[in-house]
Amino acid sequence: MKKKFSMIVKESLEHVWHPCSRMADYSELNLLPIKSGDKSWLIAEDGKKYFDSISSWWVNLFGHNNPFIKKRIIAQLNKIEHVMLSGMTHEPVVDLSRKLKILTNLDHCFYSSDGSSAVEIALKISFHYWKNKGFNKKTKFAMLSDSYHGETIGALSVTDVDIFSNNYKGLLLKNFLLPNPSPKEYSNEKALKAYALESFEKARAILEKNHNSIAGLIIEPIVQCASGMNCYHPVYLKKMRQLCKKLNIHLIADEIAVGFGRTGKMFACEHASINPDILCLSKGLSGGYLPLAATLVCKKIYNEFLDAKIDKTFLHSHSFTGNPLACSAALATLDFFEDKQVMEALDKKITKFDSFISKLNEFEINNYKNIGMIWRFDLPERFSAKQFEQFSRDEKILLRPIGQTIYFMPPLSTTIKDIKFLVKAIRKVFIKLGVECVK
Ligand SMILES: Cc1ncc(COP(=O)(O)O)c(C=O)c1O
Repeated sequence: MKKKFSMIVKESLEHVWHPCSRMADYSELNLLPIKSGDKSWLIAEDGKKYFDSISSWWVNLFGHNNPFIKKRIIAQLNKIEHVMLSGMTHEPVVDLSRKLKILTNLDHCFYSSDGSSAVEIALKISFHYWKNKGFNKKTKFAMLSDSYHGETIGALSVTDVDIFSNNYKGLLLKNFLLPNPSPKEYSNEKALKAYALESFEKARAILEKNHNSIAGLIIEPIVQCASGMNCYHPVYLKKMRQLCKKLNIHLIADEIAVGFGRTGKMFACEHASINPDILCLSKGLSGGYLPLAATLVCKKIYNEFLDAKIDKTFLHSHSFTGNPLACSAALATLDFFEDKQVMEALDKKITKFDSFISKLNEFEINNYKNIGMIWRFDLPERFSAKQFEQFSRDEKILLRPIGQTIYFMPPLSTTIKDIKFLVKAIRKVFIKLGVECVK
């Protein structure tokens, strides 16, 4: 077992360029070869089990090796693996689009295979819509400070995380940056709301001044995940919805990370009871099983592309657009939500989990915050987050700090037994690291 473990690590370092990684940092110790999965746990090549506290980069919803989803993918695999979606269609893509329409109140669904592509498509549709309408000056986008929308050129142009975008500044499109509505420190709901209202007023001034050149505002509703699980008050979204409508700016909600129950609601926009004009989905869309993304648009936008003229047509495509296997995984995921009444049971589960996880506040951590199935806190500066990650792994917990921010976003199917294990393990990590118990 040990021999296979080392061989996979060695060969991976020889042949694989790993994502979001400084390759020079890898050694045989910190690259972990995974053999299989079981619910919220990953099993390494040496047989050790690790709790997947971040749902494998926020994709997995109902556990690894879920028999319900697996069965549906296999059933589709026995029929056909792929159908091109230009000039042809198939039942899984039709069923999925109908279900997404009911869930989101949006009209038509354009498919791709990853979140960044869903964002590219949203930006292109928004830009092209205004061009079709004769608004040729609406060529830019507004985005929030600390936003993250992906790594491709367009998506990176609306991302404000320096480590990802700095090197490519010369390639990126210029857009409008609005103040972040999430405070640096969390105190109470009142302060959260006041902060959101204050940054909304600053954003309003920028949008009112420049709306003639802005096609859309792209936003991660309620939680900016990649920049450190920054949470903001729903009032910001509510006000932004009204303002965008007034100023003829598309509201593009990027629910790639927060959709499908992560914030305690099916979609994070529900916290503010709003509908975006364009919605980007991926990650949990397929339960984390197969690469799938969707960009949904309202009827008004879709209708603007129905003109017979070719330059008014949206000619975007990807080879695997609407892949039937991925659509079957997504359909199984949506059926799982319904059959197991996942959302109905979630609130109670979150409260119970939080009653255990919040005990970590006994240690000298800062900015503890819980929203839905997301928990975050900041490790004091004098401790190394890298070491926290390594010690956590020694305790069988897989996590990925963002700067000094430690977060958990486990699969929705995680059990209370798993959470008790997590909290016990993190306590051990604190003690090993020298984080003091202050209560
Ligand atoms: C909010 C948000 N948008 C877009 C993306 C990009 O998705 P992908 O990594 O699938 O390209 C991510 C990825 O983490 C994300 O969190």
